[in-house]
Amino acid sequence: MDVTALDQQARKILRGNDRGGYTVPTDGLYPYQWNWDSAFAAWGFAQFDVERAWAELETLVSGQWSNGMIPHILFHKPDPGYFPGPDVWGTEGKGPVLSSGITQPPVAATFALATHEADPEAGLPRLRALYPKLRDWHRWFMTWRCEDGMIFVTHPWEAGRDNCPDWDTAMAAIDPVGVGEYTRRDTSHVDPAMRPTKEDYDRYIWLVQRGKRLGWDDAAMADDMPFKVADPTMTFILLRACRDLGRMADLLGEDRAEIDGWIDRLTEGAGRLRNGKGVFDAINLNTGAHSGHLSCASYLCWYAGIESEDMLACLDKAFEDTPYTIPSHAFGTEEFNPKRYWRGPIWGILNTLTGIGLAEMGHEDRAARLRRATADLIAEHGFAEYFDPLTGEPAGGGTFTWTAAIWLAWASPSAGGA
Ligand code: SER
Repeated sequence: MDVTALDQQARKILRGNDRGGYTVPTDGLYPYQWNWDSAFAAWGFAQFDVERAWAELETLVSGQWSNGMIPHILFHKPDPGYFPGPDVWGTEGKGPVLSSGITQPPVAATFALATHEADPEAGLPRLRALYPKLRDWHRWFMTWRCEDGMIFVTHPWEAGRDNCPDWDTAMAAIDPVGVGEYTRRDTSHVDPAMRPTKEDYDRYIWLVQRGKRLGWDDAAMADDMPFKVADPTMTFILLRACRDLGRMADLLGEDRAEIDGWIDRLTEGAGRLRNGKGVFDAINLNTGAHSGHLSCASYLCWYAGIESEDMLACLDKAFEDTPYTIPSHAFGTEEFNPKRYWRGPIWGILNTLTGIGLAEMGHEDRAARLRRATADLIAEHGFAEYFDPLTGEPAGGGTFTWTAAIWLAWASPSAGGA
């Protein structure tokens, strides 16, 4: 593996996807600023251009709504190549930038802290300015997306894992009546076999139309939620992000009592996501049923500081069973599909968060194995959006921002990670 060349290529991808203060995930398929993609981009930039990393995070929080929510997409400049655009979301007046009406996994606090660590002295005023915005966002989660300490999603896009089998029963319960005609754009950029189905899209758009009709009002939307699923991605990531927000409060001399309360509630809630087999999965809150699925999000427990012998056993099995790890949905199951987005493919960002958690919890050997496997995948198959776990083949968009970012910050042998 030519590490220097790969490092250079990764920096070039970040620069190439830079649209001035924000980075698109990839040209064409995703032409706007996406929330968690952008936070990963900041972490990547922090490896070689700390100033640019701060700019990325600052542009992201510039889209914050008055209720504290930071949207999952910021539509800085119109682009007809993406659907659904700002007219479909209809969020005018909710925030300072045209945006979607839902959020995404809150990795930003964690990567803001990492950006600060890259140059603590220069970074302190930037961290001080970001802190209240991140705290307000976390408070919004705890107010509007928390039940029994678990964070739930109100749209599959909110978790980032759009079409994962964890949502199947909740999605099947939606009748997307009246959704009307629309033209997808994603399938003109990428092979439709690698993307969610039309049945999924009808429900995605139906849920967006419903939010628009209710004016994206938190209270009105909470009254009756057609899609309400407690999610390990969100719960584990917010728990971890609250620990990092607490560290930020310590650095800044801010009171952290409220944050500690969130950490306690989320720790308790995360325990509820453990199903009868000891696997962390999603719970459809409209029925109370666990999904029963082992997914890449199940392995985020260590990232949130939660130990699990059962999950270690699952990981060891995944290393043995699947040619490339970690598949987004367990290999050998009925739903597994090696190409279709979150129903099987490997996502480097999920491997990264899992690897960070494993190393922190004392499982250095497994962390190193996962890091090496992820590095080999990228070195052999490029900076793809995701990868086929049977062949390693690249899938989805190419020259992908977050894959380049995790290469620079974690997977590259030059990154000095776990
Ligand atoms: N992931 C969704 C898409 O593919 C939106 O966040 O457009």
